[in-house]
Order: sequence, then C-alpha cells, then structure tokens
Amino acid sequence: MENTLFLFIMLAAATNFFGFSDGAVVEKAKLKFKVSGRNIKNEGLLGTSDPYVIVSLSEDGGQSKSKVGRTDTIKNQLNPDWSNEFEIKFDRKKDQLLYFHVWDDDRMRRDETLGRVWVNVADYVDKGQLDTPNLDREGYLIIKSTDGEVGSGSLPLPAGTPESETLRFMLSANGLPSKDDIGFISIKGDPYVMVAYTDGPSGSVHEVGRTTVSSSKDPSWNDIMTFHWNRSKDQWLRFRIYDDDNLRRDDHLGQAWLEVNDYVAKGQIYTLLLPKKGTITIRRV
Ligand SMILES: *[C@@H]1O[C@H](CO)[C@@H](O)[C@H](O)[C@H]1NC(C)=O
Repeated sequence: MENTLFLFIMLAAATNFFGFSDGAVVEKAKLKFKVSGRNIKNEGLLGTSDPYVIVSLSEDGGQSKSKVGRTDTIKNQLNPDWSNEFEIKFDRKKDQLLYFHVWDDDRMRRDETLGRVWVNVADYVDKGQLDTPNLDREGYLIIKSTDGEVGSGSLPLPAGTPESETLRFMLSANGLPSKDDIGFISIKGDPYVMVAYTDGPSGSVHEVGRTTVSSSKDPSWNDIMTFHWNRSKDQWLRFRIYDDDNLRRDDHLGQAWLEVNDYVAKGQIYTLLLPKKGTITIRRV
C-alpha cells in the first residue's frame, strides 16, 4: 500500500471496504491496475482473436477522453491476462471514467473492435479496485489493482437493504448516435430498448422486456419494467437500443450492461455510457 498516497480521506456513512477503518471514503489516490479478458469475441478467420486493449480516461463524464496507454497483443487468446500496468490519478471531485476498447490485432486487414466498456472510476474505487465489467460484444474484463489488497468487487449495499426486492424502473436516453455517427446504416431516429438479464457475467440471456418506440432523439420511455433482484445472485441487466427502422438487427445504436447490485447500492438511479455515443439512465419508479 506504500505507493498509494491517499491525500484526503473523508468520513462518511459507508460500510467498511478495501481495508480502511469504518466509514473511510477515498477522495484521491494513485491507481495502478492490470486488465484481463474472459470469453472475448472470436474474430479470427483462421485461428483465434489476437486481442489488445487501448485504455483511455475521461474527466468530463465521457465528453472527451485521452489515452492512458495500450496493452501488448496476445496472440490466439480469448482469455488474455495482459501484463501491462496502467496508472491514473483518481480524484473523486472529477467525473472520471475509464474507457476500455478491446481490438483484434490483424496483420492483413484493419484491426477490428472486439468489445468496449466504460467504467466509472469512483465506483471502481468503492468496489475495492476490482471490477468485472461486461463488454458490449461478448465476454468481460477484469480490472484489478496491482497495489495491495483488493476488495469484493461490489459496491457496499446500504444497511437495511433487503435480501431481494422487485425493482420497478423506467428508462431514458440522451445523445444517441445519429445518421452522421453511423454512416451507412439508415437511422430514422425512432429508438426503443430491449432489456435482458443474466446471472453472472456472460451467463445465458433472459428477456426482461422492451419499451415502446419513441420518436425523440433524447427519449424518455413511459414503459415500466419490473425485475426481481436477489442480492445473493450476481445479476446483470443488459440494455440494447435499436432504431425502429434498422433492417439489420445487429446494427443497434448501442448496448450497455448494469450490475444490478450497483444500481441498488446507488439508490436505484444509474446512468450508463453507451460505447459509441450517448447515455441511458435507469430510474426507479
Ligand atoms: C435468492 O437466491 C438464492 C440463491 O440462488 C436462493 O436460495 C433464494 O431462495 C433466492 N431468494 C429469493 C427471495 O428469490
């Protein structure tokens, strides 16, 4: 822990995590981490994907980002453990997000995207510097501190949170991709969302429901979704936004995953950044 310099430690009513005394919240820290991938998408025509990751940091909630670094390429591997170490300066006051873009290193063609995900840095710290975010394609990443003990990988649930609960929520989105962002795909601007869940990252997918079609680019859907949350299961919700005019199903406007535990821990309002552009907000009703 000696390399991690905590400049400010504030007291707050939180549970004990990451080896701090009761109630300590990390305000600033130097974060060092490594990245692994599991069940990464196989894009190799002959053989398997040769994945590498470009890591970027945003300090304005995802509007802009700058490159932190990239990993080496690991050949023929869908479960890579990259040895490269990354380092960033965490500041809770800044709206920091890490962006992980997994690419297939391809000698013959242009490198292809294997998956992308945004990670909220404050949440990552509060999870004890261990996180397993699902990629928007297949598989998930493991982001883990290389600097001392790691925590549980989950946000602490407030005292009094029940063992299980029926969650009711509504969805809205902002800044979705438009024609200009997706070139050849025809976009009418009539988005709707398909909601699904899995137990554990990369589990089998079950449908939760879908919204009606909105005619707004910044839609606020009126549909109420219900979901039976159980804290002893590692449940994930998947939000996949389609345009009603798309001919090809795969050409959706974006997809992001939410660990349901995070949503409950944060008071049942959560905004997810979509990998390409825009956000989706899940709000309790
Ligand atoms: C929650 O999940 C656990 C483990 O699968 C199960 O034993 C328990 O019955 C579930 N509780 C509810 C209320 O669904």
